[in-house]
Amino acid sequence: MSQTILVTGASSGFGLLIANKLHKSGYTVIGTSRNPEKYASKLPFKMIALDLDSAQSIDTLPDRLFKEIAQLDILINNAGFLVNGIAEEIPIELGRQQFETNFWGTIKVTNAVLPYFRKQKSGKIITIGSITGLVAFPSTAYYAASKHALEGYYKALRYELTEFNIRVAMIEPGSFKTNIMENSSTTLNRIEDYNSLRRKSEKYADFIVEQGEDPAMVAAKVLKVVETENPNFRNLVGNGLSVLITLQHFAYGMLEKTILKQLNQA
Ligand SMILES: NC(=O)c1ccc[n+]([C@@H]2O[C@H](COP(=O)([O-])OP(=O)(O)OC[C@H]3O[C@@H](n4cnc5c(N)ncnc54)[C@H](OP(=O)(O)O)[C@@H]3O)[C@@H](O)[C@H]2O)c1
Repeated sequence: MSQTILVTGASSGFGLLIANKLHKSGYTVIGTSRNPEKYASKLPFKMIALDLDSAQSIDTLPDRLFKEIAQLDILINNAGFLVNGIAEEIPIELGRQQFETNFWGTIKVTNAVLPYFRKQKSGKIITIGSITGLVAFPSTAYYAASKHALEGYYKALRYELTEFNIRVAMIEPGSFKTNIMENSSTTLNRIEDYNSLRRKSEKYADFIVEQGEDPAMVAAKVLKVVETENPNFRNLVGNGLSVLITLQHFAYGMLEKTILKQLNQA
């Protein structure tokens, strides 16, 4: 029997590519969206409703899920969004929203499926983090904080779930061409002192987006992690990322200088 995989945020970007790739590879895939009815007839896999910001939606997820399938083997936590902008200019409420969705929403979905994984003494939880969960870039403070938080949380969870034969892994993509920028939030309390930096940061973000790579690379990496019995915790995707991470560990000052240089040239 083919394994069954739940992919959150399967209507767009990485999630859509991941779900399609897994479906084509013979897995039974269930995708989620806040508006599954918009996509259901167009996709080759089933879509169910999930809103990471709604406790009720997460609480009722297992019921809706197990109406469609008998057993769940793998959870792919992909859904998330980006709050963009200079930290001090972002209203705290929006920063809180970033954590509510990216961090708490992801954790709550994980907790919703864990009792099933523990009972069947098997399972795999793969979470789409980010390079921004390991380093940070200007204008990504809340996003980086939410992704750093996920790294720490799942690092601990990995130890706790070993005895239940539940594997935990992260995927850390660099910059990829998805709809993340179009779907980002940038409500700002403008502070004049930041006018020049804000302009530079916006140009820098354009530069990063232009450098964006083919998101199919991320779907391919996820398939590899799905098919590896004991995957590594950390799974970077993107050209040049291992250099960046090596720099982070051995020469953090150099990494900062590189980012500042790029920002000032933007
Ligand atoms: N693109 C990159 O360069 C990049 C790099 C590193 C990490 N990531 C991460 O990759 C993941 C996917 O992002 P993407 O780039 O593919 O962006 P995307 O194209 O904007 O897709 C985001 C997906 O998340 C879902 N989603 C957003 N907010 C949600 C909420 N509150 N509740 C439930 N679902 C929600 C959306 O579904 P609906 O709108 O249909 O509900 C959509 O399917 C995110 O976790 C992101 O942080 C992206």
